[in-house]
Amino acid sequence: MRKKISVIEINNLSFAYDKDVILENINLHVEALDFLAIIGPNGGGKSTLLKLILGINQSKEGTIKVFDKSPKKNLSLIGYVPQNTNVNTDFPIKVIEVVLMGHVGSKNPIFGYGKDEIACAMGALAQVGMQEYSQSKIGSLSGGQRQRVMIARALCAHPQVLILDEPTSSIDIKGQKEIYDLLKLLNKSITIVVVSHDISVILEYANKAAHINKRLSYHDISNKQATFHTHNKSEHFCEIELLQMLGSDSCESCVSENTQEKQWRKKI
Ligand SMILES: Nc1ncnc2c1ncn2[C@@H]1O[C@H](COP(=O)(O)OP(=O)(O)OP(=O)(O)O)[C@@H](O)[C@H]1O
Ligand SMILES: [Mg+2]
Repeated sequence: MRKKISVIEINNLSFAYDKDVILENINLHVEALDFLAIIGPNGGGKSTLLKLILGINQSKEGTIKVFDKSPKKNLSLIGYVPQNTNVNTDFPIKVIEVVLMGHVGSKNPIFGYGKDEIACAMGALAQVGMQEYSQSKIGSLSGGQRQRVMIARALCAHPQVLILDEPTSSIDIKGQKEIYDLLKLLNKSITIVVVSHDISVILEYANKAAHINKRLSYHDISNKQATFHTHNKSEHFCEIELLQMLGSDSCESCVSENTQEKQWRKKI
């Protein structure tokens, strides 16, 4: 079997903004084409971890590698959709202009973008199904459409890993599903790391799940998906138990599954 490419490798990482330790002894390994869902309570340190992966925050303890280098050296390989992208909807900017901002470095926008960059931005809009809105004002779009544009902006620089921090907060259920279906499609060629409070993301889309509350517990759930999908309607599926399971220490089942999976089946 071919060895998978390591996308993000975090070892023994701890982080504090001031004195308060926010993240403690974090270990996480993300491989090419993983779909990692990160869950956890408010203030648990999810966004802080993403900012460490992006090199915005820097830790004195432990290591983070993105494609085997320090995050800053491989920033161009990462697409990032931050939490609460509060685009000022009154600001008279067009969709295409928002997407063009995703180009890393190349030109000063004051002197305009080149044909190639515009073509590339249109390509990113096509990827998220928004090309027909390229000339619309960003303020005229719905929340879900705006979020697609933010994803297109992150895709503009052709990242190999896309990191999204709660991309569907304040979007209705139908819109949420559309965004996650889009991420699933993108996941055919891009590694996805997404912070979500939505447990259904874990069940439906992710092959790995991490729960963060200062400490991180991590679960490979790829073998469990069959279980989650096949529960019939008469059986009760308990989200709280699943959350407890994800919040507990990383389970043995991530390495050798069978016995634990049987236990889950009983629980679920
Ligand atoms: N720039 C900062 N300076 C000091 N403390 C911060 C800073 N950013 C975050 N914190 C603190 O770090 C802790 C973790 O915050 P973080 O934003 O990572 O949580 P989160 O898991 O993303 O929460 P949420 O689900 O609300 O988005 C919180 O206690 C927060 O107040
Ligand atoms: Mg956050």
